[in-house]
Amino acid sequence: MEPVHEESARRAQTLRPIPTPDRYATIRTATEALCAPLSPEDAALQSMPDASPAKWHLAHTSWFFETFVLRPAIPSYRPLSASYHQLFNSYYRSVGTPYPRPQRGLLSRPSLEEVVAYRRHIDACMTDLLAAPVLGECELLSVIELGLQHEQQHQELLLTDLKHLFFQNPLRPSYRAGVPRRKAMPAPRRSWCEHLGGIARLGHDGRGFSFDNERPRHRRLLEPFALDSRLVTNGEWMAFMADGGYERPEFWLSDGFDAALAGGWRAPLYWERDDGGWQHFTLSGMQAVSLVDPVCHVSGYEADAFARWARARLPGEDEWEILASGRPVEGNFVESGLLQPTFTRDEGDAPWQLFGDVWEWTRSPYVAYPGYQPPEGALGEYNGKFMANQWVLRGGSCATPQSHLRASYRNFFPPTARWQLSGVRLARDLR
Ligand SMILES: [Fe+2]
Repeated sequence: MEPVHEESARRAQTLRPIPTPDRYATIRTATEALCAPLSPEDAALQSMPDASPAKWHLAHTSWFFETFVLRPAIPSYRPLSASYHQLFNSYYRSVGTPYPRPQRGLLSRPSLEEVVAYRRHIDACMTDLLAAPVLGECELLSVIELGLQHEQQHQELLLTDLKHLFFQNPLRPSYRAGVPRRKAMPAPRRSWCEHLGGIARLGHDGRGFSFDNERPRHRRLLEPFALDSRLVTNGEWMAFMADGGYERPEFWLSDGFDAALAGGWRAPLYWERDDGGWQHFTLSGMQAVSLVDPVCHVSGYEADAFARWARARLPGEDEWEILASGRPVEGNFVESGLLQPTFTRDEGDAPWQLFGDVWEWTRSPYVAYPGYQPPEGALGEYNGKFMANQWVLRGGSCATPQSHLRASYRNFFPPTARWQLSGVRLARDLR
């Protein structure tokens, strides 16, 4: 582990985000703004076991503050309803038995109105707590900040779950009207961003917030490698499809080929072909697939097969992090309102679109860093217990809040997952 000088540790501490009442209100309000276009019926439905109703997201993010902040901090705290403790527990077995995830869409009660009242109750208690002078510098501030970061994670899930839900409806409803797109641009150039390898420092550097799975900072030996300067485009994915990419087992991991066969995968999720060519479902309804935009809604297995077809490979998460470290977190995030990955501008030979647009699949299994210890208590269940059978994704998407991201951020999903805003950047060895 990298030694950290006391002074730099103190300095890093001061750079951590402080969960002020304003910051709390801003993030909580952003969740509700995302739900504003929804009817109560939209908010109640669940399209698959992996997804949750918007109403459940609204309630669960409140449950997090109630369970991990208000109950332990305020001895006189009275919950609005005792039943919510089980209904809105996601997976924290240390604090009870969660209501089964595949059945969240069956919870017609509490109503959306009651869930909104639950949020108001939690917000009132949290606002009082955040204003209390006793809060000081205590450990509780870290848990409140974790609750806000958790809420931002659910903001993205709310959108990806809703997209999956609306796609099940033959009416193909729009979540909201699309933001006007720029006129068509020429296909972006490609160049390889080379790195000579060597011993690299990986993991969070101590400045600002981080999740436990980004720590501790540690050393890695990297062989020389190169990353593509940009993301794989829809046009390139069509070439893969046209070359029999989905039917040729030589490109696929065995589990991946089985998943593709079982799922009938012939194109990215949400793609449909009609007389006018390929269309795809977006949060603004069906749209023509743009050849130059980044491909999206592909699984890790598809991404891996594409990379083999392209005579390349997926990046390691360490390679991605080394090239992203020190670069500004700029790009197409939820704040742009596009809610679709898009080709904005050609930035030449430097790696670009590292942040925003699509989460980038890596070939790295989601495992603990050397020296990792999950936090003590129930919050130790937040990340550590999922370190099996998942792959790491990096960089954030067009549905991620900009302030939520950093170079060391590790997202993770099973390699079969397709409903997240996931895409591909190629890598190769330098020999
Ligand atoms: Fe959660």
